[in-house]
Amino acid sequence: MLTVLRHPLAEHILTRLRDKNTEPATFRSLSHQLGLLLAIEATRDLPLRSFAVNTPLEPHTGGQLARGLVVVPILRAGLGMVQPWIDLFPEVSVGYVGLERDHATAVARSYYCKLPPLAGKRVICVDPMLATGGSAAQALDVLREAGAEDLSLVVIIASPEGVAAVEKKHPNVPIHTAVLDRGLNDKKYILPGLGDFGDRLYGT
Ligand code: PRP
Ligand code: URA
Repeated sequence: MLTVLRHPLAEHILTRLRDKNTEPATFRSLSHQLGLLLAIEATRDLPLRSFAVNTPLEPHTGGQLARGLVVVPILRAGLGMVQPWIDLFPEVSVGYVGLERDHATAVARSYYCKLPPLAGKRVICVDPMLATGGSAAQALDVLREAGAEDLSLVVIIASPEGVAAVEKKHPNVPIHTAVLDRGLNDKKYILPGLGDFGDRLYGT
């Protein structure tokens, strides 16, 4: 299922991210801000367990997060979405899946994988751009094979083609995005998009 973040602040940040004149330093901090909004939205359904405390006035039964989290960025651009998870969920574990699209074919090649234990955890795969969906579908395959059961995908910009490709291979994985863009160009870049996220994040 696809959930699009609907918040005026998200649109404000996204518009500045899309602007080709936004420099890497600003691009990084805007990505961080949008990542925070997305992380809050994507964890709305996290299970809670009841937890008893004493306020200064009386006993109170509140809630505590009942499931550990693992965030898994798809290298390299996904790294720009990790810090918000660490800021909001300091206990989060971090895994890494390295995939790179071939510039001619747009097919992703795997070059790195390092994962913490995934069983019993909420596993969130993060990657800013869901274009053809090839990279995300491949990363989700890896995470499933490594034992992830409660899996979701969080992106900044999704294309209809990418959403369809992921939903076809992973129909039970919820997808959260800040926006659903129009489509892909002939080089498989998202339109209107923001260009190459990794290049803009790292100034390459
Ligand atoms: C970008 C992006 C995704 C992928 C999306 O990474 O971060 O991982 O493209 O495209 P897809 O949906 O068509 O697979 P890229 O391969 O450019 O590598 P990078 O993160 O190292 O820049
Ligand atoms: N990867 C990007 O960084 N941007 C796109 O538009 C598509 C894939």
